Amino acid sequence: FEVKWDAVAAEKGGYDHFMIKEIYEQPKALRDTIKGRFNEDGVNLDEIGIDKELLTKANKVVIVACGTAYHAGLVGKYVIENLARIPVEVDIASEFRYRNPLINKKTLVIVVSQSGETADTLAALREAQSKGAKVLAVTNVVGSTIAREADSVLYTWAGPEIAVASTKAYTTQLAAMITVALALAQCQCALPCSEIKAIAESLKAIPGQVETVLAQADKVKEISEQIKGWDDVFFIGRSIDYAVALEGSLKLKEISYIHAEAYAAGELKHGTLALITDNIPVIALATQEQVLDKTVSNIQEVKARDAYVIAVAQEGNKEIGKFAEHVLTIPRTHAALTPILAVVPLQMLAYYTAVARECDVDKPRNLAKSVTVE
Ligand code: G6P
Repeated sequence: FEVKWDAVAAEKGGYDHFMIKEIYEQPKALRDTIKGRFNEDGVNLDEIGIDKELLTKANKVVIVACGTAYHAGLVGKYVIENLARIPVEVDIASEFRYRNPLINKKTLVIVVSQSGETADTLAALREAQSKGAKVLAVTNVVGSTIAREADSVLYTWAGPEIAVASTKAYTTQLAAMITVALALAQCQCALPCSEIKAIAESLKAIPGQVETVLAQADKVKEISEQIKGWDDVFFIGRSIDYAVALEGSLKLKEISYIHAEAYAAGELKHGTLALITDNIPVIALATQEQVLDKTVSNIQEVKARDAYVIAVAQEGNKEIGKFAEHVLTIPRTHAALTPILAVVPLQMLAYYTAVARECDVDKPRNLAKSVTVE
């Protein structure tokens, strides 16, 4: 009798692919990333390892990254500008490094990189330092080159991410972005302490809320059966939802090879609406209360052109169901935290669609987990 031992299958822990395992690991990854970072004063500045002087004096933030990490940076812009009221630029590392960026000693440069080894992001870090800026790295790999060269490091504790398509690294990067935003808000007195603590409490509730979203897997799987034959998909959203739309679109195209594009919902009428015709799928993110009526009217616009609408909305939204074929709901939370919940159904949708199309989910063609060459 011989026991057949498949090391890769064992690592997948009973899941069919690393990607779905990693999607389900998000509650733990988030708990680990949040743990210890908040205390009775708000952000536990001793625990997050960011230079306090810089947090107090920074008058501009520049976030630089590639791929999914860049999308986390886009969410970072919304949350830092809204909570800390400091202007934020977000740049793709391969652009930033060659554009002679305007940064100086008072600029906080944040590089975001799961692997900590991406060549363009590392080059951007060095470019920023050569211009006198201090660099904070948000990375998942202890001892990586980016972690070693940065002036300070805020680790995401997602654990090893094997699937090429990033999931738990992204949501933990979002938690890190909120932490930085709250730390800046605290050091620069941009928000009352009570509000910082309230947002921190909402963040602590997020891992449990992610579990609620994961429980909708069967519904997402059903929808993926319907979308698996599509050639083009559009993602729309306003404000922070637009950043999530970009990530949802990237997930779908990189693993299912379906052409997907994300648009700021208000921009549709400037061109893209021409492509919305009978049964074209539109995935609409509608989690932001302050622009909800605007988003709903954009959904009506695409519906009037017979689009097939799948909406992601907060629980209790009665309106959205009137204009969508399917509604995937997320629990209610602070407006800055919705991306961590809203991206989860989009990750699952990309995953189940790719499985239904018999794609190599964990290793999509032409892509690498870590791009260490230019
Ligand atoms: C590659 C991966 C992406 C990742 C990007 C940046 O393109 O396929 O999933 O987002 O690199 O990687 P990093 O390790 O710097 O976050």
